[in-house]
Amino acid sequence: MDSKEKNIYLRLVRYAAPYKGRIALSMLASLGVAGSDAIIAYLVKPFVDDLIVAGNLSMINWIPFLVVGLAAFKGISRYIQQYNIRIAGQSAIQDIRNRMYSHTLKLSMRFFVNNSSGSLMSRILNDVNVMQAALSDVLVTVLREATTLIALTCYAFYADWRMALMAFVVIPAAAGPASALGRKIKKFSWRGQGAMGNVTLVLEQTFSGIKVIKAFGNEKREDQKFKRENDGYFRFICKTFRYDAASSPVIELLTSFGVAAVLWYGLNRVMAEEITKGELFSILAAILLMYTPLKRLIRVNNIIQQALGAAERVFEILDQPAEIVDAPDALELPRSCGQVNFENVSFAYDDEVVLRNFSVTSRPGEVIALVGPSGAGKSTIISLLNRFYDPQAGRILIDGHDIRTVTQKSLHDNLALVDQETFLFNDSLLNNIRYGRPDADREMVETAARQAYADEFIRLLPEGYETMIGDRGVRLSGGQRQRICIARAILRDAPILLLDEATSALDTESEAMVQQALGNLMRNRTTFVIAHRLSTVMHADRILVLEAGEIKETGSHQQLLEKGGLYQRLYDLQFQEQG
Ligand SMILES: Nc1ncnc2c1ncn2[C@@H]1O[C@H](COP(=O)(O)OP(=O)(O)OP(=O)(O)O)[C@@H](O)[C@H]1O
Ligand SMILES: [Mg+2]
Repeated sequence: MDSKEKNIYLRLVRYAAPYKGRIALSMLASLGVAGSDAIIAYLVKPFVDDLIVAGNLSMINWIPFLVVGLAAFKGISRYIQQYNIRIAGQSAIQDIRNRMYSHTLKLSMRFFVNNSSGSLMSRILNDVNVMQAALSDVLVTVLREATTLIALTCYAFYADWRMALMAFVVIPAAAGPASALGRKIKKFSWRGQGAMGNVTLVLEQTFSGIKVIKAFGNEKREDQKFKRENDGYFRFICKTFRYDAASSPVIELLTSFGVAAVLWYGLNRVMAEEITKGELFSILAAILLMYTPLKRLIRVNNIIQQALGAAERVFEILDQPAEIVDAPDALELPRSCGQVNFENVSFAYDDEVVLRNFSVTSRPGEVIALVGPSGAGKSTIISLLNRFYDPQAGRILIDGHDIRTVTQKSLHDNLALVDQETFLFNDSLLNNIRYGRPDADREMVETAARQAYADEFIRLLPEGYETMIGDRGVRLSGGQRQRICIARAILRDAPILLLDEATSALDTESEAMVQQALGNLMRNRTTFVIAHRLSTVMHADRILVLEAGEIKETGSHQQLLEKGGLYQRLYDLQFQEQG
């Protein structure tokens, strides 16, 4: 076992530690199971020698009670052992899954951009499942079979150490092939889990992109893609089946040498009258009873190897450092008066610089519009203000506090974001609107909805504000969804409002109305608004025209038009389109 594996074991053990009470109880019960087997082997001797050979008939009436009594004792012990250890294992797994979820939530946007939701889901569901199946099996078997093996071994050595030794030569011989098989199984099960991740990925893409698949008539191609990934998984898993299936016969063959040797030697000694028939049968019973736990333990090694593969993948996620964390001495940012200050901010997602020396200072209550060609870096500015990423150079201040020195929670409490991705939860409209302010009452929600021009269409829905949306409820149009998101932001009542193409899905008429509502909202609030439609931004206090991550022009709508630069060109283009 290398040190990496040892680490994984230790970590797993640490997760089981809180359940040591149950584990201890289970251990105690496995002594009962093991003891019963040893007693059975022990009783074979008087059974053969006194009862069958010597004909001591007084024992006959005891036999049925003994058999049933032993079975009951072993059964109860087994029940207590298995039930408790499974619960302990499952609880540890439960903790791991919860921990994984909490940890993923803390990870930064970069992590989510780089890892598909399919592969993350596969780790939290499939990999943890493999661990779960394995861990509970392993704990059950290892505990019970190992104690049984030890008890029987002790008895065998006590009864006749020479014969016991002969039987035991086999065990070290079996260890080599067993561990080789285990390694193979681990390798292929690791790959199998990776392949299962690909299967989940295809599924996730299919269900989120079903419209595109159908519109382009690509059902067949997607079908083949799925089969290919599913087959990939099948191939790996078949390999693990092969090595797993081989392990029992290999062990059995090896053990047959031991049994053969003991039989030959033991029979010779009985003939020479060195031991009684009962003694021979008793030790044979012990040895035969021993091989079952031995076989199970070796198979368990295979399961452990699978679990280790899965655990490694699980711990990979848990070990992912959260890129953006609160500073240890982070302050609570008080409710902002709305002064936002970008100071020489430069930023690159990877190597390519997306923002170069970006500086802007907003006065409290100012509306700043960001316009410019696609890919200019407008949304990036908003992401940086949200601290989804930290800039490589420069800093961002709110009311003079560097946003890296305040808690993320208090930072976000000061921001309300509406962007193009109108994400709504599978929940009622009411709860969706108050997502950013769960304590809001019905009236506040309705007011916000009215301001976002959402109230009217919500009232027309059969269940009004209680209407469920998403999987279990109605489907809304793009513009309706956008209005819900705007209501959500209005209700949040944060001092800094961030609108990234927030009204792009609305028609000109409702946009004008929503604009008016947002206009009311923007009063006393600092707003950053991004829009391609220049009619949306022309009333902003200040317009920043960005190109390739740099501010090219700034000024009011009128000033920029007079300047006759990039803004005017963009304006003319849109004017022609509309005109
Ligand atoms: N998560 C990301 N990882 C890597 N590069 C990114 C990421 N997001 C955006 N980019 C790149 O950064 C640049 C600026 O993107 P950004 O989204 O800020 O543009 P934008 O001005 O909002 O464009 P649009 O008007 O089309 O929304 C683009 O070149 C884009 O390819
Ligand atoms: Mg954008």
